[in-house]
Amino acid sequence: MSGQQQVEDAILARRERVNEAIPEELPVTRPEGLYEATRYLLDAGGKRLRPTVLLLVAEALLDVDPLSADYREFPTLDGGRADVMSAAVAIEVIQTFTLIHDDIMDDDALRRGVPAVHEEYDLSTAILAGDTLYAKAFEFLLSTGAAPERTVAANERLATTCTRICEGQSLDIEFEQRDAVTPDEYLEMVELKTAVLYGAAAAIPATLLGADAETVEALYNHGLDVGRAFQIQDDLLDLTTPSEKLGKQRGSDLVENKQTLVTLHARQQGVDVENLVDTTSVEAVTEAEIDEAVQRLREAGSIEYAQDRAQDLVRSGKENLEVLPDNEARDLLSGIADYLVEREY
Ligand code: IPE
Ligand code: IPE
Ligand code: MG
Ligand code: MG
Ligand code: MG
Repeated sequence: MSGQQQVEDAILARRERVNEAIPEELPVTRPEGLYEATRYLLDAGGKRLRPTVLLLVAEALLDVDPLSADYREFPTLDGGRADVMSAAVAIEVIQTFTLIHDDIMDDDALRRGVPAVHEEYDLSTAILAGDTLYAKAFEFLLSTGAAPERTVAANERLATTCTRICEGQSLDIEFEQRDAVTPDEYLEMVELKTAVLYGAAAAIPATLLGADAETVEALYNHGLDVGRAFQIQDDLLDLTTPSEKLGKQRGSDLVENKQTLVTLHARQQGVDVENLVDTTSVEAVTEAEIDEAVQRLREAGSIEYAQDRAQDLVRSGKENLEVLPDNEARDLLSGIADYLVEREY
C-alpha cells in the first residue's frame, strides 16, 4: 500500500468514528428548526481533517492500537480517563461554525457540495446555527471528564483559538480592500484564521491526557505550521479544482479579491491581478476565464512560489512531531502533513 493510500485510509477510519459521534453529541432536539440547521452542514460531509489530527495525537502519545480503542474512555498518561472523542467533535463543530459564517462573509453559495446554510435556510438561521455550534463546542470540551485543571487549560486554548479566528477573518476581509499585502501579512492572517485551529487540534489532546508543557507547545507549533500550509493549498485549490470536486465555488477568491500568496507574488511580477476575471459576482465568472487566469499565474511562477512556501511549512511542521513517541500514529501525522499540501480537494 502506498504512503498516501495509508494516510487516506487512516483519515477515512477516523472520519467514520467522528461521524458516528456527532449525532450522539448533538441530537436534533427542540426547537427542531434550529437544530436541523445546526446539523445540516455537519451531516453534508467534510473531510474531518482536524478531528483526525486530534485523535492521532492522542493515539501517538499513548502508543495505543487506535481503532480497537474506545475514544470515549481513553486512558490518560497518568492512569485517569478522558473522552477524547468529545474533544474531537468540539474541534469539528468549531470548524463547521466558522464555515457557516465564512460563507456569509465571502458571499459563497456552495459548501461541502450542498447549498451554504444561509442559502438553504436564511441569514438569521445561518447566524444562529453558527452561534449554536460555537457554544456547543465548549459544552463538549467541558464534558471530557479530564482533571479540572486540564479541562480549564483545554477550554482556555479553544477560547483563545476562536478569538484568533475572528481576528484572522477580520484581516482577511480588510485585505480585500488593499492593493497589496506582504508575505508576512498574509502568513499572519492565515495563522489566525486557519492555522490556530490545527494548533488547537494538536495541542488539546496532549493537554487533556496530561502531556508536559514542552510537548503541548511543540504540538501546537506543529499545528500552526501545517495549518498555514493547509491554507496555502486551499488557496491553490480555489484556482485549480472544479467546483463539483471541491464542493465549493472554484475561482471565488479571485472574484472576492482575496489576498493570497499566489496573487501577491503575481502582483510583484507585474500581473494585473484585479482584472484577471469578471469580479461582479461569482456566478458571472466563467470556467474559461478562470483557466486563463490560472495560466497567467502559472506563467508568472506564482503557483510554484506558493507550493514551495507550503512545502517549507510542512517540513518545519514535521520536525515538531519528534516530541511524540516513535509509532504508527506519529508516522500517520507526518503523512497527513504531506497530504495537506498534496490533496486535490
Ligand atoms: C475549509 O476547510 C476552510 C479553510 C480553513 C480553508 P476544509 O477544507 O478542511 O473543509 P471541510 O471541513 O473538509 O469541509
Ligand atoms: C476560511 O478561509 C477560513 C475560515 C476560518 C473558515 P477561506 O474563506 O479560504 O475558506 P473556504 O475556501 O471558503 O473554505
Ligand atoms: Mg470562504
Ligand atoms: Mg474566507
Ligand atoms: Mg479558500
